[in-house]
Amino acid sequence: MPGDLSEALKEATKEVHEQAESTEFMKNFQRGQVSLQEFKMVLTSLYYIYSALEEEIERNKDHPAYIPVYFPAELHRKTALQEDLEYFYGPLWREEISCPESTQKYVNRLHYVGQHEPELLVAHAYTRYLGDLSGGQVLKKIAQKALHLPNTGEGLEFFTFEGVSNATKFKQLYRSRMNSIEMDPATKKRVLEEAKRAFLLNIQVFDELQKLVSQCHENGHPAQHKPELRTRGTSGAHEHGPAPVKEGEKTLMKHTGMLPSTPLVRWILVVSFLVTTVAVGLFAM
Ligand code: HEM
Repeated sequence: MPGDLSEALKEATKEVHEQAESTEFMKNFQRGQVSLQEFKMVLTSLYYIYSALEEEIERNKDHPAYIPVYFPAELHRKTALQEDLEYFYGPLWREEISCPESTQKYVNRLHYVGQHEPELLVAHAYTRYLGDLSGGQVLKKIAQKALHLPNTGEGLEFFTFEGVSNATKFKQLYRSRMNSIEMDPATKKRVLEEAKRAFLLNIQVFDELQKLVSQCHENGHPAQHKPELRTRGTSGAHEHGPAPVKEGEKTLMKHTGMLPSTPLVRWILVVSFLVTTVAVGLFAM
C-alpha cells in the first residue's frame, strides 16, 4: 500500500472505478444515450446523496480527520443541484421527487459514517468530489449536447465548479491536503475499504436507475421516478431539450392521444361523422 493516502486511494479504487465506468447506465451516458427523464433521475439521486454528504461534512468540519479537506465554497454541490432540479421540475420540484432504494442505502451509509465513524468521511468526499472534477467534466459536455441544453449553464450547475478555476491544480491541492491528515495504518486501511464501498454504492445507484429506465421503456412509458410525475409544461418547469421519444412511445401517442378514450364517445363521434357525410352527399345531389 503506497504511503500517501491519495496514492493509496487511487490504487485501491482502480478496479471499482473501471467497474463504475462500465455500468450500463454510464456506458449509455458516455455514448450520448441519455434522455431528459434519465438525466432528471440522476440529478434527483445526486441531490439526496449530496444533501446527506454535505450535512455530515458540516457536522464534522472541525474534526481533525476532515478539516484539511473542508472546501465548502469550492466543492459543495447541494445548492447547484437544487438549482438544476428547479430548472427541470419547476418551483414545486421538492414535491416531484422521491428517493430510490439504492440511493437511500447510500444516504444511510453517509449518515452512519458522519455520526459514528467520521474518520472515514474523507473516503466519501474523495469518491464524489474528485470524480466530479475528473470524469464529471466529460459527462457535462455529453449531457449538454444530448439534451440540447443552453451553453449558458442552466440545468448543468451540478457540473460547474464556480470556485475552481483549474480542476487539475485543485485536485493536486486536494490530494496534498488528504496526505496531511494524520492517520494510523489501521485507520488508513479502513478509509481505503470505505472508498471501495462508496464506489460500490454508486454502482448500485446506477444499476437501479438503469433498471427503472428499462422497466419504464418495457411498459412503453418514459422513465420516471414517480408515476404521477407531471408532463411537459404544466407548472413552468423547463423541460428543455427534446427528450428522445422512442418509436414505441410515438406509436402509443398516435393511438391513444388523438381519440377520446371512452368507447361510447368514440362510437357517437363515428356515427355523427357518417350521418354528416351522408347528409352532405344528399345535399350535393
Ligand atoms: C463515465 C464514467 C466515468 C468516467 C469517464 C470517468 C473518468 C475519469 C478520469 C478520466 C479520471 C482521471 C482524471 C485525472 O487523473 O485527472 C477519473 C478520476 C476519478 N474518478 Fe472517474 N470516471 C467515471 C465515473 C466515475 C464514478 C462513477 C466515480 C465515483 C462515484 C468516479 C470517481 C473518480 C475519482 C474519485 C477519481 C480521482 C482518482 C484519483 O486521482 O485519485 N468516476 N475519472
